[in-house]
Amino acid sequence: MKSHSIQLYPLGKEIQVNDNTPLIDVLHEFGIEFPCGGQGTCGKCKVKLLNGEIEITPEHRQKLDKLKLTDDWRLACKSKCTGNINLEIDQFNHIILADESEFSFKPDKGFGIAVDLGTTTLVAQLIDLSNAKVLAVETLINPQVKYGADLISRISACIGGHAEEMKIIIRSAIGLMISRMLKKHPVRPEKIVLVGNTAMQLIFSGNDVSPLSAYPFDIGKVGISDFTSYDLEWNFNISGGIQFYPSIGSFVGSDILAGIVATGLHKKEKYTALIDLGTNGEIAVGNRERIVCASTAAGPAFEGANISVGMRAVTGAISSLHLDDGTIKAHVIGNTKPKGICGSALIDAIAILRKLEMIGMFGEINCGDKFINLTGEINLLQVDINEFLLAKAAIASGLHILSKNLSISVDEINDVYLAGGFGNYINLNHLVETGMIELPVDRIHKMGNTALIGAKMFLFEGTEVAYEILRKTQHINLERDSMFQDIYVEKMMI
Ligand code: FES
Repeated sequence: MKSHSIQLYPLGKEIQVNDNTPLIDVLHEFGIEFPCGGQGTCGKCKVKLLNGEIEITPEHRQKLDKLKLTDDWRLACKSKCTGNINLEIDQFNHIILADESEFSFKPDKGFGIAVDLGTTTLVAQLIDLSNAKVLAVETLINPQVKYGADLISRISACIGGHAEEMKIIIRSAIGLMISRMLKKHPVRPEKIVLVGNTAMQLIFSGNDVSPLSAYPFDIGKVGISDFTSYDLEWNFNISGGIQFYPSIGSFVGSDILAGIVATGLHKKEKYTALIDLGTNGEIAVGNRERIVCASTAAGPAFEGANISVGMRAVTGAISSLHLDDGTIKAHVIGNTKPKGICGSALIDAIAILRKLEMIGMFGEINCGDKFINLTGEINLLQVDINEFLLAKAAIASGLHILSKNLSISVDEINDVYLAGGFGNYINLNHLVETGMIELPVDRIHKMGNTALIGAKMFLFEGTEVAYEILRKTQHINLERDSMFQDIYVEKMMI
């Protein structure tokens, strides 16, 4: 198959892709968000074609006209790569929030670096603090993945004697990402803000994670961790400080704190929820008065783990499924042969199989077989369906119990923001049909990497906003709710 190169500006990156690869499949790995999920309605994924050709279909033309975009613009979500191209990513010229308002920042002097330290992926951006422009981006798979994909295996590895090594490899991976950005833009950053889940913060800081391994999983408060580049053995200088922002609770870290800032949940009058469907399924619900949050036992099913054909949203993953005249059709990332399915397609699969009455309300395969063929060689096993139902029930019951803590019903939540890597591909109708979020589709918004957006906002707003949120936020242990078991079992149904 022919391949082509795509040069990305202002990132200074070059990637090679197969002929006919949709841009949405490759750009999301560089932190580019697709807020309307690729419907072509929000215009937020627009890219300027600096060199080369991108064919415009009639549908794409219609969307461009509607958004009043001139001839040198394309919507990345409607474009395919059929030759060598150079693109300017408009999204990196200013910070965009899903509530349609741009992040208003007070210009500052110098440069800052925002880091999202995820269990699976690491993303760092170099920001010009005078205008909030992204000057460089680096992404890496978290090298701790060799100790296991999920948090529990990382925590076990720490307890098993690998804590020091895990601290060293994560510090040097992030140091390497920052060095790469500074090589391209030789500046001296004023400050670095890191956010991540509580376990990642403890490991990065060299603190004991063992309280997270056993009941009551109580770690107490994990405040701001301050470092110098000397502490971290980074060979570049920072004028100001390096700060890992504080966690909210045992399994609700500063990535969720950053998400609250990014969504503006802490300033809203109406009840709002933030759900991160990543490895740990964290939820925050509240408004400007009070916020409650929890981590759920959703497990890593949405990231493809524990699913026989599951995989992350990378080349070869089926990212979505839809029905075409009664037949299940798949979209594969990177225009290649399917190797497995990622979380978004798993949600599609369950909604479609239920619609076709191939599975019942408890997910049981109606014909009695142990698997259902989705497409090609990709089969969904009964155990995969069960795994999904456990994860979706964890989210649905989390939302229910947190609302109960606020003395409201789920229905009183005005907006739900979805964070998490695979959000770009989620079909919201299918999500609602599975019963994971029991609200009308128009109240649910995809928001991409809220942790990174929030980390960037911390570069401008500082620690004050973090402490303001911590003061009004309560961490809830869902399992301690007397109705937890009943609610959880009820939410297993589709
Ligand atoms: S127009 Fe919204 S994601 Fe492309």
